Amino acid sequence: MRSIAPHDTVGYGVIGCGVISSWHIRSLKEHVNGAQLVAVCDEIPARAEKAAREFEIPRVYTRMEDILADPEVDAVSICLPSGMHSDAVIAASNAGKHVMTEKPIDIHLKQIDEMIAVTRKNGTRLGVIFQRRAAALWQKIRETVQAGKLGRMVLGDAFLKYYRSQEYYDSGAWRGTRALDGGGALMNQGVHLVDQLQWIMGPVAQVFGYADHLARNIEVEDTTVSALRYRSGAFGTLIGTTSVIGSAEWERDARGNVVVKKWGGLDHRLEFHGDHGTIMVDGERIVRWVVPGEPEPDFAGDGVGSAASDPTAIGMSGHILQLQDFVDAIREGRDPMVTGEDGRASVEIILAIYKSARTGQPVNLPFTDE
Ligand SMILES: NC(=O)c1ccc[n+]([C@@H]2O[C@H](COP(=O)([O-])OP(=O)(O)OC[C@H]3O[C@@H](n4cnc5c(N)ncnc54)[C@H](O)[C@@H]3O)[C@@H](O)[C@H]2O)c1
Repeated sequence: MRSIAPHDTVGYGVIGCGVISSWHIRSLKEHVNGAQLVAVCDEIPARAEKAAREFEIPRVYTRMEDILADPEVDAVSICLPSGMHSDAVIAASNAGKHVMTEKPIDIHLKQIDEMIAVTRKNGTRLGVIFQRRAAALWQKIRETVQAGKLGRMVLGDAFLKYYRSQEYYDSGAWRGTRALDGGGALMNQGVHLVDQLQWIMGPVAQVFGYADHLARNIEVEDTTVSALRYRSGAFGTLIGTTSVIGSAEWERDARGNVVVKKWGGLDHRLEFHGDHGTIMVDGERIVRWVVPGEPEPDFAGDGVGSAASDPTAIGMSGHILQLQDFVDAIREGRDPMVTGEDGRASVEIILAIYKSARTGQPVNLPFTDE
C-alpha cells in the first residue's frame, strides 16, 4: 500500500460501471478534491469503455484483479451487485487499496465481519455509502433526537412505499435474487431507512416481521411489515414495499379503454415521536417539526432526493460529500464518516426480520445466526 500524506493526490478506480457508478464517477471527476480517477472496470467491456470515453478516464479494465494490480490506484469504489461486495472489498484490501463500497455493505453477517477484520488488519480504510447520513437535514434530526429534545423517545417509524416494475427486476440478472440482492424491498431499497432509524433512534433490541413477494415474480420479498423494539425501550414500525402505487399517468385509447402510461410510488416517510416532540419527514422534506425551543430548520434543496418510482432519481450531494470525506480520511489517516461497523448494523436488523418472517417468531439482537 502506498503511504499517502495529507497533500497527496489519491489515485482512484471504480469497479462496476452500471447504474450507480455514474454517481461515483461524476462526483470524483467534477467535485471531489484530492483524488484523480485513473481507471474503471466492468466485466462488460462496452460499459467500462463508455464511462472512460465520457469522463476521460485513462485506463479500462475488464477483470477486477487487473485494476487491483494497478499501482496508480490507491482506492476503489465498489459498485457491483450487493452479494459481490465482500469478495471485492477483501480482494481490494489484500491488494493494499482503500475501499468505498455501495450499500448494503454485503448481504451476510459472516462476510461483513470478515470484511471489517481484513480491512482493519491491513490498515486500509473501509467506507460504506449511505448518502443520507451526509445530509445536513438528517444530521440535524439525529442531533435533535439524541440531545433529548423530543423528550423520552416513544416511536421511530419508517415507511417505504415505492414502486418497482417487474421490468426493473428483470433489468439485471442479479436483481431480486437471494444470492446477489440478498433480499428485496428491505435489503435493497429499505436498507437506507433501516440505517437511518437505528442511527437516529439507537440500536434495535428485537424485531417481529412479515416478508413475502406479493406482486412481483422474484425470489425475495417485495413487501415487509415489521414491529421494532429499540434498546432504549421505544417501539417502531417499519414498512418496506416496492409494489404499491402512489401515482399513475393514464389515458383512454380509441376504444375507451384505460391505458396506464406510467406508474409511480410514494416518497418514503420517517417519523420520530417523543413525549416532548415530533419530527416527521416526507421524502426529504420536514412536514412536521414540533420541538419546543428549537425553530424548524430550512433544508430546502438539500439534494439527496427520493427514489420512490425511479432508482436514478437520487441527487448527487450525498455521494459527493461521502466521497470527499473518504478521500480526506485516506489522506488524514482516519476512519471515514460511515465505517464498515456502521454499515453492518442495518444488515443485521434486516436479516433478523427475514428470520422472524421465516420462523413466525420475534428475533432478538445482537443476532448472529442467519
Ligand atoms: N446509494 C444508492 O442509493 C444506490 C442506488 C442504486 C444502487 N446502489 C447499490 O449499488 C450496487 C450496484 O447497483 P447498480 O444498480 O449499479 O447495479 P448494475 O447491475 O446496474 O451495475 C453493476 C455492474 O457490475 C458489473 N459487474 C458484475 N460482476 C462484475 C465483475 N465480476 N467484475 C466487474 N464488473 C462486474 C456489471 O456488468 C454491471 O455493469 C448495489 O449494491 C446497489 O445496492 C446504491
